[in-house]
Amino acid sequence: MKIIKVKDPQEGGKVAFELFKEALLKGTKVLGLATGSTPVSFYNEVTRSNLDLSDLTSINLDEYVGLDGTSDQSYRYFMQKHLFDKKPFKETYVPNGKATNLNEFVKEYDKIIDEHPIDWQVLGLGQNGHIGFNEPGTPTTITTHVVNLAESTIKANARMFENESDVPRQAISMGIASIMKSKQLVVMAWGVEKADAVKGMIEGPVTIELPASILQTRDNVTVIVDEAAASKLS
Ligand code: F6R
Repeated sequence: MKIIKVKDPQEGGKVAFELFKEALLKGTKVLGLATGSTPVSFYNEVTRSNLDLSDLTSINLDEYVGLDGTSDQSYRYFMQKHLFDKKPFKETYVPNGKATNLNEFVKEYDKIIDEHPIDWQVLGLGQNGHIGFNEPGTPTTITTHVVNLAESTIKANARMFENESDVPRQAISMGIASIMKSKQLVVMAWGVEKADAVKGMIEGPVTIELPASILQTRDNVTVIVDEAAASKLS
């Protein structure tokens, strides 16, 4: 695990963008992507650049159950708005929150991941240490699955919805096992509300109670943290 400390999310987005350019030079063709506030500064760098991404495939980590791409709180909508509409990709996969048979759908999504091994995975970090929507307690062997969102995640994500009661209670998420198969991983975390999770991820014991701590076991992981998120590191 390599740690890079930056001043703020803007600088962090620039650092991630430099790593991304290096990855492209090394032949990266498949990206694993995250939504949420964290990767926005990175996506802004990408969309401002003159990079041509039309031969890349992307596979997103997760989506709320019950929302389709026309809903502006869906992760498909988020990705179109922040990245795909501005930088066309060859193909983009985001889990289908409206799949009629979720059990079948998660198997299909695993097949997509198997057929397109992820070269470069972007991760945000939940305040409770989740990666994707792999909440505390999730086994590390799990692949794509339907998740009952933790109360803390519902509260943290309520800012994106009119009322907390509008936040979907379930999501489809790539599993920890699939995430860990990525060739390179870049985790970003900004803000003091992530400081405990950052400390646990980097310095705490490796435990399923803090899913991101498993990343300590790999040397192909780069963590970019701003001053506030790094404030509890020893
Ligand atoms: C989103 C995702 C989540 C977020 C995490 C942090 O696709 O997989 O793990 O990265 O919840 O969210 P933000 O960036 O909004 O603080």
